[in-house]
Amino acid sequence: MLFFACQKDTPSPKAPQLVLPAQPFDYSNLNYPEHFQTSFLDFILGNNLVNNPITDEGATLGRVLFYDTKLSANDEVSCASCHHQENAFGDPNRFSTGFEGGLTKRHSMALSNTLYNRRFFWDLRANNLRHQVLLPIQDPLEMGSNLDSLVQELATTDYYPELFTAAFGNDSITSDKISNALAQFINSITSFNSKYDEGIYNDFANFTAEEELGRQLFFERGLNCNQCHASVALMNPAALNNGLTPDENDKGLMEFTGDPDDAYKFKTPSMRNIALSAPYMHDGRFETLEEVIEHYNSGVTAHPNLDDRVTTTNKVGGPPRQLNLTSEEKAALVAFLHTLTDEVMITDEKYSDPFQR
Ligand code: HEC
Ligand code: HEC
Repeated sequence: MLFFACQKDTPSPKAPQLVLPAQPFDYSNLNYPEHFQTSFLDFILGNNLVNNPITDEGATLGRVLFYDTKLSANDEVSCASCHHQENAFGDPNRFSTGFEGGLTKRHSMALSNTLYNRRFFWDLRANNLRHQVLLPIQDPLEMGSNLDSLVQELATTDYYPELFTAAFGNDSITSDKISNALAQFINSITSFNSKYDEGIYNDFANFTAEEELGRQLFFERGLNCNQCHASVALMNPAALNNGLTPDENDKGLMEFTGDPDDAYKFKTPSMRNIALSAPYMHDGRFETLEEVIEHYNSGVTAHPNLDDRVTTTNKVGGPPRQLNLTSEEKAALVAFLHTLTDEVMITDEKYSDPFQR
């Protein structure tokens, strides 16, 4: 183990200690299981890692940055303040608290299998992860930092020069390197060790009858859940309108594109670890998975951009579809969603807080 004192000039018994393994954890080998090994995966890895391949030292630096409150203007907030490992890197609070106590406008997003994304944020305004990770640092509500002064501050610590050297070959600290390291760490957060993943290899013999009914409802019985929450990552790179009753103050994707056809469309999140990342939707309006299922069952609201997969006519903007599920079927869907919890991801030390506080 390597120990660093975090505040060189003002040592205090309360200063967090950075503790890293002498040999870095393995981040570079993503170890995707067989059911992830598709031509789509090759395409994503080719696209998303070519300019910033994950190295063990780069992701180690990213891990330290992710958990370091120095990234905020008043050293109060780190990325992990709003992205908790035990909540699948989401936030159990409806809105997250920024460095000066202000609340975010939307619900914090769970993070896993980010390589399957094209764009980031609920309204897709960030066009790649390296671009995205610098935005919360400079956001006036979230962390309130200035990149130039942050670079200088990191250079005065006794641990960053060494970590940047290990990751990038020399101790010069730049915002590009900060973003590359954070993106490497986040891209290394993979999720494929759930009960559901196990079931793929044994025809779901490990499932209860209720979980199996829920699985069939999600994938096979015309409810279209998997048409939107798609691929092995069970997400969709697109922003869609799933019939939530609109909030007039939030225009969704339209805020970014200015196109009325994008009004009230939001990023389609992954279902992986969904039982851990309540509350749900871009504004955290639903506290439980039961409420989410009831939304699709009876609560889909008419909208000109309502996705064709939740209408009765299979046409965009068509009449909202009701699913008429029995209470047994609703419970089965919830039981299935619980099979997507990945205990490995939420307890893996390589993704955990390296500071002893
Ligand atoms: C104050 C709380 C807060 C802090 C601090 C914070 N985030 Fe977030 N994060 C959020 C919220 C809220 C969203 C959704 C915002 C939106 O879409 O407008 C989000 C979204 C994201 C996303 C997009 C995920 C997706 O699937 O599109 C990523 C990636 C992310 N944050 C990474 C980070 C990193 C890296 C840091 C530290 C540099 C960080 N966050 C700091 C609250 C926070
Ligand atoms: C038309 C595409 C579409 C269909 C069909 C669909 N969803 Fe969704 N789902 C979305 C979108 C888009 C969101 C995010 C909406 C928002 O936050 O405004 C979402 C959000 C969710 C969430 C909350 C995710 C989070 O992190 O907050 C859950 C859970 C969910 N859907 C489950 C389901 C289930 C179960 C079904 C099938 C009954 C289903 N979805 C069908 C598009 C769809």
